[in-house]
Amino acid sequence: MTKAVEPIRSVEWKNNHVKLLDQRLLPQQTVFLTLTTIQDIWDAIFELKVRGAPAIGISAAYGLCLWSQAFEGDDFQTYLTSLQEQATYLESARPTAVNLFWAIRRVVNVTKSVSSVTEAKQLILNEAKLIQEEDEAVCKAIGEYGLTLFNEGDTLLTHCNAGGIATARYGTALAPFYLAKEQGISLNAFACETRPVLQGARLTAWELQNLGVNVTLITDNMAAHTMKSKGINAVIVGADRIAANGDTANKIGTFGIALIAKALNIPFYVAAPLSTIDLDTTSGSEIEIEERHADEIRTINGQQISPKDIQVYNPAFDITPSEYITGIITEKGVIKGNYIEKLAKLF
Ligand code: MRU
Repeated sequence: MTKAVEPIRSVEWKNNHVKLLDQRLLPQQTVFLTLTTIQDIWDAIFELKVRGAPAIGISAAYGLCLWSQAFEGDDFQTYLTSLQEQATYLESARPTAVNLFWAIRRVVNVTKSVSSVTEAKQLILNEAKLIQEEDEAVCKAIGEYGLTLFNEGDTLLTHCNAGGIATARYGTALAPFYLAKEQGISLNAFACETRPVLQGARLTAWELQNLGVNVTLITDNMAAHTMKSKGINAVIVGADRIAANGDTANKIGTFGIALIAKALNIPFYVAAPLSTIDLDTTSGSEIEIEERHADEIRTINGQQISPKDIQVYNPAFDITPSEYITGIITEKGVIKGNYIEKLAKLF
């Protein structure tokens, strides 16, 4: 018997505003924000109120819609020049997840086929809604392909949160769990807490528990021991940017888990939509790694845990070289082997 699982919508367009789930407050508080300006969207992305590559892209697309709707006048050239400026502004919110740049480009590109402000306003909104609709279908397909790799009763380890709230629905790395639930298949999970911002402890643990998955939370430094001793069948993570050769940027800590997986002969899968694959980036060394504020490490929940002014290094992502990746699960199937050739063929 199949059972549809109630979707969690982290981003929604509501006529003249964006309704956004404040992911910083989960799981203690479920607060939806009302965002009315493109600046609100920039702040939400920068401050991680919305996070996760596809959700960032969807939010940015709606950010341009908020600006577009507020644009006064009918001078199309002024509109286009200003749109480009707003796009560049939004792109500065975070550097690593390519979905941000991908979604903004899609929205800006639709204006090439129109000649008036009124038409552009409508088309931009249609495109942003389409990006969100497509992402839901894409994530579902990722879940279906992902599920072909696992068996009833398997235990998967995941890092960070690549769940429903990081996308339009279903997530990427968590999509197989949603699809498994719908199909009555049982999968178990171990979730790494994911310091410093705790996406694993706060978001993945919460999401999978809500879904009714048997999920166990561990701290990041427990990954190797857990993978060796707890019968982990596979690792599955999301991605923020996949280079043309398969090198993958994902939440800091992912590379370490990939190394452990290789040493222990555990399959290591990356689940991501085509919108996360960046063929313009040849290899992982070209991907900009975001560095975030030192206080994310010096404090937990606003509480100082280190000397106040201690020097800190806080990269938000790392690169897993493609040779550590058993397969990349996309909406077009599972890619294995020659990533350069096979990723290019997807487009
Ligand atoms: O800093 P975050 O929380 O935006 O980082 C998120 C991740 O690293 C996710 O794994 C990735 O964006 C995929 S979300 C489907």
